[in-house]
Amino acid sequence: MKNRLSRIINPKTGHTVMLAVDHGYFQGPTSGLERPGEVITPLLPWADAVMLTRGVLRNTIDATISNPVVLRVSGGTSILKDDLSNEDITTSMRDAVRLNAAAVALSIFVGAPNEKQTLVNLARLVDEGEEYGMPVLAVTAVGRDMVRDARYLGLASRIAAELGASMVKTYYCENFGKVVEGCPVPIVIAGGKKIPEPEALKLAYNAIQEGAVGVDMGRNIFQSEDPIAMIQAVRSIVQEGYTPDEALELFNSLKGKKK
Ligand code: 5RP
Repeated sequence: MKNRLSRIINPKTGHTVMLAVDHGYFQGPTSGLERPGEVITPLLPWADAVMLTRGVLRNTIDATISNPVVLRVSGGTSILKDDLSNEDITTSMRDAVRLNAAAVALSIFVGAPNEKQTLVNLARLVDEGEEYGMPVLAVTAVGRDMVRDARYLGLASRIAAELGASMVKTYYCENFGKVVEGCPVPIVIAGGKKIPEPEALKLAYNAIQEGAVGVDMGRNIFQSEDPIAMIQAVRSIVQEGYTPDEALELFNSLKGKKK
């Protein structure tokens, strides 16, 4: 378990840049990810880990990649349904091990109609993970009518840790330090909807300053006007201590260059 986690969170820096490209599991061909292999592969040199489903991994990613894989193993619903919380475990632990996953990821929906089902899913996944030394990343999914504040995200993150998650993925919010303080396992933040690059870089910077171990960022990288420049700029903040201004300068200097 510790060895797997150390492949995701760099033990030298204590930080990680995870590339989240699992959106299709309920959104289908998400904008920017229509041809996943072509988008993901050039970004991998700057990703400490890649978070995706087994379908995209098997069919579009070269089996020889060295990046640790965080395998999305929950699903069962789609954006056509009003209630996205009706998720179950969709991939067996055996298959996750066979695919050489470094961790498995599942969403919990605290406060949503299927709160209990998703929390029990998490607890079961942790039990199975313990048998194989497989860490579980719990994603605190936020329903449409939930407020993304420190009270709610702190509650959801703490519950995830209490049920045995090895890592939590949540959203950045005001007083994010409170969320980190109440959660005894490492936290990474999602980027959320696409925002201008300077704002996304500031978001990553603030999250690290306030105690996140890193980012698990998707749309703000692959929907960027230059995804390869953007992942390097995000990495400069998370792994090299750049300020948002320095990272933006890096982004601008790399943007549009022939790859
Ligand atoms: C959905 C997920 C996604 O992978 C993640 O939230 C997407 O990252 P981003 O918000 O940065 O696009 O876990 O529940």
